Amino acid sequence: MILVAGSANLDFVVRAPHIPAPGETVMGRDFQTFPGGKGANQAVACARAGGAPTHILLALGSDVYATPLEASLQQAGVGLHIKRSSDQPTGTAFICVSDDAENAITVAPGANATLGPEDLPTLQGVTHLLMQLEIPVESVTAYALAARAQGVQVVLNAAPACPLPAELLAAVDILIVNEGELALMAAHQGTVKACLERLQVPCVVVTLGHHGCCARRGSDFFFVPAFEVQPLDTTGAGDTFCGALVAALCQGDPLAQALVQASAAGALACTQLGAQSSIPTRAEVAAFMQQQPSDQDPDPGQAKRQALRHFCGFPTQETPSP
Ligand code: RIB
Repeated sequence: MILVAGSANLDFVVRAPHIPAPGETVMGRDFQTFPGGKGANQAVACARAGGAPTHILLALGSDVYATPLEASLQQAGVGLHIKRSSDQPTGTAFICVSDDAENAITVAPGANATLGPEDLPTLQGVTHLLMQLEIPVESVTAYALAARAQGVQVVLNAAPACPLPAELLAAVDILIVNEGELALMAAHQGTVKACLERLQVPCVVVTLGHHGCCARRGSDFFFVPAFEVQPLDTTGAGDTFCGALVAALCQGDPLAQALVQASAAGALACTQLGAQSSIPTRAEVAAFMQQQPSDQDPDPGQAKRQALRHFCGFPTQETPSP
């Protein structure tokens, strides 16, 4: 069983030609609200990926914004442990999505900030605890330590990045970051390879946008080039990757296979507007993967893998002759 402990936000999304620069006003177009929040998005991604029952610990306000967030999680089949705040509003996020599918997000945490160390439900039956950093870091640390003490795998998506206590990092089994977060965590501006080698966590996964993703487990490295899609909105794509990865690991898939599943789910999430609304089901990911060129085809698959290795600072490998 997977337990996600994290945030839920109602996303207020406006599309615009570009993301405003400091001091600039941009005329946007259509406006919509979507269920979001990194914790809730990742829980929905776990549940839609299938393979393991998923629960979430979250905090919501006593307001109308909470209703669509609960509904989206319930529709995805996520079990809910809700801390209800009477004096803080439900979390909200204000998102501008540009015509080139980039986004800028500001979060007003509200009730998310009330989730405390004492709120962790029983971990009986839980094999994987998945967390992010939109709830207080003291709570994330307490949950990680409790999980570690009970033999639960601790997975941390260190987003949004912030300085982390050493005792938290020491309790993490799998760390998932993007390129910027990796540099911050490693306190290093060198290559992806150098940053991955500096971190003491047993397994570190870094997502690299259109390049793909790379992981280090012990001294082994894994490379998965990105699936090609026409992006519309990348909001929630990283969360989809995290949820799909943990779901695959929870059902016993090897890391290499889980990374491919997660990459495919994350790529598909870029093709729809919104966070939870864009997260694909297991069947949609399977259909998408069937459309891809065979792994047996050494090119372009091999060329993409070499490009990814080069991007990460690894020497390119000899291509075996056919
Ligand atoms: O990762 C995307 C999410 O970040 C959005 O859904 C928004 O709520 C913020 O938490």
